[in-house]
Amino acid sequence: MSSSPNSVPASKNLPTLPFIPQREYNIQHTVIQEAPARASIVLWNLIDFAHVNWVHRKLYKYCKVLTESGHVTLLEYGVRFFFFLRVPLSFPVLMWHEYTPPYRVQHLSRSPWGGYTRVDVQLEEFQKDGKTHTRLTHAFYSSVPNFLLPFKSLFHRYLETWSARVWDEDYAMILRRQKALDCGFKDHPLDVTVRSVEGF
Ligand SMILES: [Fe+2]
Repeated sequence: MSSSPNSVPASKNLPTLPFIPQREYNIQHTVIQEAPARASIVLWNLIDFAHVNWVHRKLYKYCKVLTESGHVTLLEYGVRFFFFLRVPLSFPVLMWHEYTPPYRVQHLSRSPWGGYTRVDVQLEEFQKDGKTHTRLTHAFYSSVPNFLLPFKSLFHRYLETWSARVWDEDYAMILRRQKALDCGFKDHPLDVTVRSVEGF
């Protein structure tokens, strides 16, 4: 694992995803996506935090890596929750991000108003028309205040719209990287170097 000024020395007791009882989550939603690319490329996209500052600027004001240990990274995102209104408002969200080899990524985010969202992403490589494809299954678990529960269906729509937007931007990156490999370029090893990135 790389070291950086923000590195926390890895110990024998590596941190694991904080446990929040399942009953705390009152919204569950699943999003499935597919890309004609290797799982390693999709994984690279999920772990490459720096690109958020450039590729997803309409959804995030910034993404900062606060610290890391082993496969766990603590991040702060400036999230533009109201991106659909096109207002320049963002809110700080803390995220615990954990990669479990070979193809699982989990993250737990705490919103400014105290709710939590846990996402469990599983990757699965398969062959289709003689080409390698990867399926991503995102399982979302959210806890929203009880008074907002009557608007549950809006949360489902929101998660769909948000995921589609992020995927649209990531998909283009994934296809470009796969195309470079198809042209004979050698893939760069998975880059999990932690970098603090200032937002805009
Ligand atoms: Fe992305």
